[in-house]
Amino acid sequence: PAPGWAISADVVVVGSGVAGLTVALRCAAAGAKVIVVTKAQLDDGSTRWAQGGIAAALGDGDTPEQHLDDTLVAGAGLCDEDAVRTLVSEGPDAVRRLIGTGARFDTDPASGEILLTREGGHHRRRIAHAGGDATGAEVSRALIDAVRAAGVAQAGGGLELIENALVLDLLDDAEGRTAGVTLHVMGQGRRDGVGAVHCRAVVLATGGMGQVFSATTNPAVSTGDGVALALRAGAEVSDIEFVQFHPTVLWLGPDAEGQQPLVSEAVRGEGAYLVDAEGVRFMVGQHELAELAPRDIVAKGITRRMQETGAAHMYLDGRHFGAAMWAERFPTILAACRAHGIDPVTGLIPVAPAAHYASGGVRTDLSGRTTVPGLYACGEVACTGVHGANRLASNSLLEGLVFAERIAADVLEVLADPSAAPGEPVAVPESGGAPLLASEARYEVQRIMTAGAGVLRSAESLTAAAGALERLHTAAVEAYDREGKTAEPCVETWESTNLSLVARVLVAAARRREETRGCHWREDRPDRDDRDWRRHLVVRLTPHRT
Ligand code: SIN
Repeated sequence: PAPGWAISADVVVVGSGVAGLTVALRCAAAGAKVIVVTKAQLDDGSTRWAQGGIAAALGDGDTPEQHLDDTLVAGAGLCDEDAVRTLVSEGPDAVRRLIGTGARFDTDPASGEILLTREGGHHRRRIAHAGGDATGAEVSRALIDAVRAAGVAQAGGGLELIENALVLDLLDDAEGRTAGVTLHVMGQGRRDGVGAVHCRAVVLATGGMGQVFSATTNPAVSTGDGVALALRAGAEVSDIEFVQFHPTVLWLGPDAEGQQPLVSEAVRGEGAYLVDAEGVRFMVGQHELAELAPRDIVAKGITRRMQETGAAHMYLDGRHFGAAMWAERFPTILAACRAHGIDPVTGLIPVAPAAHYASGGVRTDLSGRTTVPGLYACGEVACTGVHGANRLASNSLLEGLVFAERIAADVLEVLADPSAAPGEPVAVPESGGAPLLASEARYEVQRIMTAGAGVLRSAESLTAAAGALERLHTAAVEAYDREGKTAEPCVETWESTNLSLVARVLVAAARRREETRGCHWREDRPDRDDRDWRRHLVVRLTPHRT
């Protein structure tokens, strides 16, 4: 739809997790006028839910090279080695800068050194954590405090926040350069309804798309908005079929829907083990690291055991930690378990895999630039190449930090060059080109994806999913074409529309990838095929607007 108002800035950052806020802080500190747009409240994204921590070669004897090796192995042959090298070598300093911004990590009271834990796929203790198992909450708190301070310090200038605002589409100039975004502000008062921000660079930091499945560790806001916007803008999206399923998500019954409580890999890193209903440690013998194998292998191990035994879940046994360790080291998980009547101090924790992380996303180079000039992507929405076919545990906050710094540096360089400024944005047509889906379509998309494109896939299940998604989409388009009818524009209808788009693209890629690799597990193609499939699937749609 055409915007009813317009403002301008140098940079628009879309999203307020670790990636978005780090870019915003760095750009504002250098004097750029930054607007951060976030769909709900500043801390509503995934960052705050991260438990385990941030991986970086900070410990004695650890090196970026060893971190690189573990990342490449987890990525199952599809990581971009230059991107991983950038991540692991710039990672330790990025963590130190985060500490400089105010984040407080858990430290050894005697030495003051940062305490490090282990997670799946890491051959050493390398994960810095905060508040025991509340790392994301602390990172989010520190960055939000810094952003609010920057906003206050530069009132009327550097950093403005627009909350409750969903970004809809990219605006470009006549030469296809990014010239701003349209957004729908919900009840903000000062600026309401559909408007535009004109700017010279847009940074997508919108997080993931876990809500495309029925059960996920992701919050309700993770609806693939950034990937959907990028697809509509004609940007390349890569590796979208690689959805990571976290192996140990608290099992709350067969019909549990929406965001589910995570039981961090750090619990296994500290020595808890996986058992079946008979108490058998089924991961032993499946991989040299047993329960600490890379995440895809543990998720597969659990799913296979569930199939073999007919069980709906497996168990995590951490009773030997004792009450004091549970309370001190894992207070968030302890509270979540107890809230559901489970006491990990005395009993087993029922766990099963659930959707957790999009390893692919909007394709970028090492400066976070997408294939559309002036459009950047950072964090889970991006595909920088560091994750390949399966992200290594706790590399995600790190990726957000490292690439945010790189994007800020690139944006500041572009802003300093007047010849790089875009022209006037091309006018937005009065009426949209495609209909919005109804709010309830979200649940239909989730059911279709869970049934057909979940942890275990096959040609048959994916074909059924593709057909069902197409019917859902076509019904909306036909009603629009026939009667001009579309759902009322609001957050829920935009979200359903975005989920439907990313689901269709994801399923198409998963159908094409006729092998099993990383977190893409095809029952009908059980082997990894390095001859034909050691390559990326890149999607690019004809640009269009909603
Ligand atoms: C966890 O704490 O298990 C999640 C860490 C991650 O997703 O990297």
